[in-house]
Amino acid sequence: MPSANTNTKQESCDTFACERQEERSCTFLATFVESALMAHSFGGPWTQIKLDLLRRYLISFNKALQNRPSAQRPFARIYIDAFAGTGECEIRTDEQTVATIEGSAKIALETVPAFDEVHLIDLNPIHVEELNRLTSTYETKVKVHLDEAKNAINKLLGSRNWNNSRGVIFLDPYGMTVPWTTLQRIAATKALDVWYLFPLSATYRQAATDFDKVDPTKAKALDAVLGTQDWREHFYQVDGQAGLLGEAEGKVRTYKATDIADYVKSRLAQVFEGWVSEPLYLRSSKGAPLFALFCCISNPSPPAVELAKRIANHILEKFGAPIKRKPKQTSELNQSSLF
Ligand SMILES: C[S@@+](CC[C@H](N)C(=O)[O-])C[C@H]1O[C@@H](n2cnc3c(N)ncnc32)[C@H](O)[C@@H]1O
Repeated sequence: MPSANTNTKQESCDTFACERQEERSCTFLATFVESALMAHSFGGPWTQIKLDLLRRYLISFNKALQNRPSAQRPFARIYIDAFAGTGECEIRTDEQTVATIEGSAKIALETVPAFDEVHLIDLNPIHVEELNRLTSTYETKVKVHLDEAKNAINKLLGSRNWNNSRGVIFLDPYGMTVPWTTLQRIAATKALDVWYLFPLSATYRQAATDFDKVDPTKAKALDAVLGTQDWREHFYQVDGQAGLLGEAEGKVRTYKATDIADYVKSRLAQVFEGWVSEPLYLRSSKGAPLFALFCCISNPSPPAVELAKRIANHILEKFGAPIKRKPKQTSELNQSSLF
């Protein structure tokens, strides 16, 4: 449970604070600047949900992989937090109250059974200082990286043999700061499970309703986060209402936030060979979908997929995600070949 307090001293590590930003113009550059500077925004109920969900998955993941593939030579279990924050988050529980809760870095460090290695990445030197302070009290092998997430991920992925390691990577950016190429690299390990907080409201704000208002900077940001240019054809249709009075026919966005989330799911499924979950919508207090949380499994091995899927769906369902299930298989999976 969060500990309620009313002071705001402690630096918050939470999300895009979309509610307050809705009016801001959101250019590609602004997105990056915002990412670096938004240290004092407060999370909301969605913060607690994503962190509870992460905590449950990390425990189940480590339990499932203990002594796999064998007790003599188990996989090294790795956790990578690409947007690690400080280890603590501040969430606004009502107009007057701010509560401090454990952030993803601390949750990972406290996971039992423990990870063999924990990597915490953050671009903000003040956050990194906090992380260094936090990690000094743990025995787990942990490394804090002061770096841009995409660079640190590239270095980390290239530096180990993924045949004998398995892991979880948490992508919890403020905005559109995860390029598609990073997701492709993660998927290529075939060893990492990803929890990706996709920045839905940031994306639909970049994709202006009127296609003519999607300037080159916004289009470039969308290309980078979606890894393709074909969103132009999917999101937009010729406006049937225009042209009647002789004005030029423009294109308008017909995709709502939930259509965009479905499109993102189909894009992720092209890259992650194992499985991609249904999105869990994390909403503002007014009900607007701010983020779509996806679980993506890079390991294509059917028993590994089946297990990860079972764990992730069980947790997602608790938080209200719609789960599509196939009819039960008659043959039981051979548990000994998991992962
Ligand atoms: C939403 S907060 C993460 C919260 C954290 N997961 C938690 O639960 O406590 C995003 C964090 O990412 C960091 N950040 C922003 N842009 C980044 C980037 N491009 N690379 C690495 N870190 C970045 C920020 O300094 C901030 O600490």
